[in-house]
Amino acid sequence: MSVGTAPGKVILFGEHAVVYGRPALAAPVTGVQARAEVDDLPKHPAGNVRLEAPQLRIGGWLHAMSKEERLVLAVRRALELLDARPATALFVRLNSSLPVAGGLGSSAAISVAMLRAIAAHLRIPLSTERLCELSLELETLFHGTPSGIDTSVIAYGWPVFFVRGQEPVPLRPALPLQLVIADSGQPSETAAVVASVRAAHAKEPELYEQFFDAIGKIAWTARERIESGQGAPLGSLMDQNHALLAEMGVSCEPLDALVTAARSGGALGAKLSGAGRGGNIIALVTSETKGDVERAVRQAGAVSVLHTVVEG
Ligand code: MEV
Repeated sequence: MSVGTAPGKVILFGEHAVVYGRPALAAPVTGVQARAEVDDLPKHPAGNVRLEAPQLRIGGWLHAMSKEERLVLAVRRALELLDARPATALFVRLNSSLPVAGGLGSSAAISVAMLRAIAAHLRIPLSTERLCELSLELETLFHGTPSGIDTSVIAYGWPVFFVRGQEPVPLRPALPLQLVIADSGQPSETAAVVASVRAAHAKEPELYEQFFDAIGKIAWTARERIESGQGAPLGSLMDQNHALLAEMGVSCEPLDALVTAARSGGALGAKLSGAGRGGNIIALVTSETKGDVERAVRQAGAVSVLHTVVEG
């Protein structure tokens, strides 16, 4: 049996604007993981695939499953993209501790883990660069027009400075950044939120270009501050980024409540992370404040809380 794994991710700065060519920063979250297992089914003829994804209550032969199911399409496409030619039928099991529609990159992590496991099992060489390209293709099945930031940060597994269409650049924090990640428990449907931003941009292009420029500028400044180790001013950039996202209409009451609670619990700054309208917020904390911030966000309705450290 062959195994492929992949972490989750958080967008530190620049979500949505990154779809429109502005820079963004993201980091892997290793406390959650997608895992794919691939094995031979020697008693069954090549070309058949048995898929199990217990969290999604999916199980059975691929050819007998709904062609509308995105995961089924993704498995087929992964085999095609890798030009996989197994000698027997294959068994593919997908598991993940990432919340689905939680803004932590669940579909990108499943795509990366699955490509890794299939490639390893069939001894197909797969560079990280190629893994990024192929997982981005799979992401389009889930999200329509992804920028590529989720698949890049998850495939490389290190913090990135990312501009759409370019190779990601490693982001090198001078000091480790401690984050509390709090889940609103409300689903964040990336494709739908990205589509609604696209519609709003088409209606009011000047205003949205201003939002994207302002967010892009924040991402540039944040990179400088992260790489020179300035924690407190970085927190205020998070607050500014959240305010712009809220003005763009991608926040929601539960996310705003978590952000406010994190700040009153002592966070240096907080913002939604990912597509928004649900999913997670991130809060920049210190060893002294992380416990209070966790308590504050739980009281404000967080259904689960993760801690992560972003380092180079
Ligand atoms: C989702 O994690 C980030 C978005 O900017 C979409 C994308 O970049 O593909 C909202």
